[in-house]
Amino acid sequence: MPPRRELLVLVLVLQGAAALEPVSLGIAIGAASALTGYLSYPRFYCGFVECCPRDGDRPNATALKEVLDTKLFGQHLAKEVILKAVVGFKNNANPKKPLALSLHGWAGTGKNYVSQIIAENIHKQGLKSKFVHLFVSTLHFPHDRNITQYKDQLHKWIRGNVSACASSVFIFDEMDKLHPGLIDAIKPFLDYYDQIDGVSYRKAIFIFLSNAGGDLITKVALDFWRNGKDREQILLKDLEQVLSLGVFNNKNSGLWHSSLIDKNLIDYFVPFLPLEYKHVKMCIRAEIQSRGNGIDEEVVKKVADEMTFFPKGEKIYSDKGCKTVQAKLDFY
Ligand SMILES: *[C@@H]1O[C@H](CO)[C@@H](O)[C@H](O)[C@H]1NC(C)=O
Ligand SMILES: *[C@@H]1O[C@H](CO)[C@@H](O)[C@H](O)[C@H]1NC(C)=O
Ligand SMILES: *[C@@H]1O[C@H](CO)[C@@H](O)[C@H](O)[C@H]1NC(C)=O
Repeated sequence: MPPRRELLVLVLVLQGAAALEPVSLGIAIGAASALTGYLSYPRFYCGFVECCPRDGDRPNATALKEVLDTKLFGQHLAKEVILKAVVGFKNNANPKKPLALSLHGWAGTGKNYVSQIIAENIHKQGLKSKFVHLFVSTLHFPHDRNITQYKDQLHKWIRGNVSACASSVFIFDEMDKLHPGLIDAIKPFLDYYDQIDGVSYRKAIFIFLSNAGGDLITKVALDFWRNGKDREQILLKDLEQVLSLGVFNNKNSGLWHSSLIDKNLIDYFVPFLPLEYKHVKMCIRAEIQSRGNGIDEEVVKKVADEMTFFPKGEKIYSDKGCKTVQAKLDFY
């Protein structure tokens, strides 16, 4: 609220009070200063209605690191990349393009969870925020024959939402099942344009989730394990190379089919490693705690033992990561 407006309010209240008794004048001045006090308080109404963050607002990097450290298990690479990407982007007052992250890995390894954490760091209400938009390919865009309609819709939605809030977050789940036509529809928004039809998309965040490359990531992790090396020794470059050869050149997976990659529109590839028995146990403990219960190691072990592990002989990695932990816990 500009100061001049507050002054106007004050003048109006005082003018109204001029005709009153001295006592009511005192009350009117009290009310006026309370009112102007409120108005000069930084957007006090944002306590009641969700507001879009302003340019100067910085999300809390310490809090983001803390959540990733305590709630994401077995993903040292994802943690590192996400922190660097999100904090770097939000600290840049003048990004040249929106932030585009592509999260890869098997189901249940934490991709959805991480996108939720990022969303919450930027908009307190996370997935419930009106500035965070989740699209699931098979749910929102199920029929190929309606692709033209979806394209139009998606285009309008992204435009409408970014016009309303520059730091909107868009999450696309099941990216490998998204029609190439829709990827083409998103593409212009990810590019290095100053603005498109008067709207700037440079402060927005796009997160793409897919299983593509999950098998290759697992293979690398397994090689490390078989060579007696710690999984924390896996470096980003160990995976980038196999991913770029195996996924980005695979003509069958929608995302890579298009020129997202060729044009360098994706800023970060974030690999999620397959989860081991000990990580599954960590997920179970965290879930028990989040339900406000004390940890019973016997229950933790029972639930973990119900999960299935691969490869056949060695049984190192959980088939479904931590995905079915919640449902299995309900049972106990
Ligand atoms: C950021 O988060 C940390 C850890 O949750 C908290 O201690 C700190 O007060 C927060 N800072 C701000 C400015 O909110
Ligand atoms: C496709 O769009 C048409 C026209 O908008 C609509 O009538 C039809 O129900 C849609 N089909 C499906 C399968 O959603
Ligand atoms: C924003 O996106 C949602 C879908 O998540 C859509 O329903 C809504 O109409 C969009 N808002 C605008 C203003 O386009």
